[in-house]
Amino acid sequence: MGKDVIIACDFANAEETIRFLDKFNKIRDEVVRCDDISVRVSRPYVKIGMELFYAEGPQIIKTLKERGHKVFLDLKVHDIPNTVKKTMKVLGAYGVDMVNVHAAGGIEMMKAAKEGLMLGSARFAEKPKLIAVTQLTSTDEATMHKELLIELPLPEVVKQYALNAKAAGLDGVVCSAHEAAEIHMACGPDFLTVTPGIRLAGDSAGDQKRVMTPADARDEGADYIVVGRSITAESKPIDAYQRCRADFIL
Ligand code: C5P
Repeated sequence: MGKDVIIACDFANAEETIRFLDKFNKIRDEVVRCDDISVRVSRPYVKIGMELFYAEGPQIIKTLKERGHKVFLDLKVHDIPNTVKKTMKVLGAYGVDMVNVHAAGGIEMMKAAKEGLMLGSARFAEKPKLIAVTQLTSTDEATMHKELLIELPLPEVVKQYALNAKAAGLDGVVCSAHEAAEIHMACGPDFLTVTPGIRLAGDSAGDQKRVMTPADARDEGADYIVVGRSITAESKPIDAYQRCRADFIL
């Protein structure tokens, strides 16, 4: 299974996003040296979140796909099953590579999401991956106990949500890299773990509570790491991206 680094393009609009991604043009399909290791870099896999999608609409997906990027559309859909099914049918037709729902919506909702997504993406040979958010990486156990009134330990909750996602026929989950190994043990090695909350050593955690470096995420068996500010807020984002790839993939 291909591991990859997904850049979280948390920008306000298309112009800012394209200006940022243009920096990567010069390394397209080149083999670059990073810490004496050769790394093949093509157009980065990107993640579009709510801010950018709600500002720009589906055109931003079309633009990024035409530029050769794989696109993870991170809208964290969460509603009644009927609404989710119809929503996912719309999203599937955009040609995204990955999309997600909240596991907290339950198995019936996740099954409906999958049905809708398959209907919407029927014309594409490669079907989009559908994954479920377990607990946000900005949520820690204390918040979960005190505010969400979920009394079980966080790893148990995450594991159960992952098992629910698997039972609903989803491809994997969004989780913290801290939970990736446990989830693979419970749900099998092919069940994807997509892990945000990644920081290069020395970077600030910001609002994330459960962070990990790319190398540690690799050791935990994460399949994809989602990296935002540790790349986008850097003065040398290409170097940061290459470092993430070198640490995570090799
Ligand atoms: O800048 P940073 O690396 O913290 O960005 C992480 C990205 O991953 C953000 O776009 C955030 O919305 C997303 N995300 C997350 N935790 C989840 C799911 C998605 O941080 N559970």
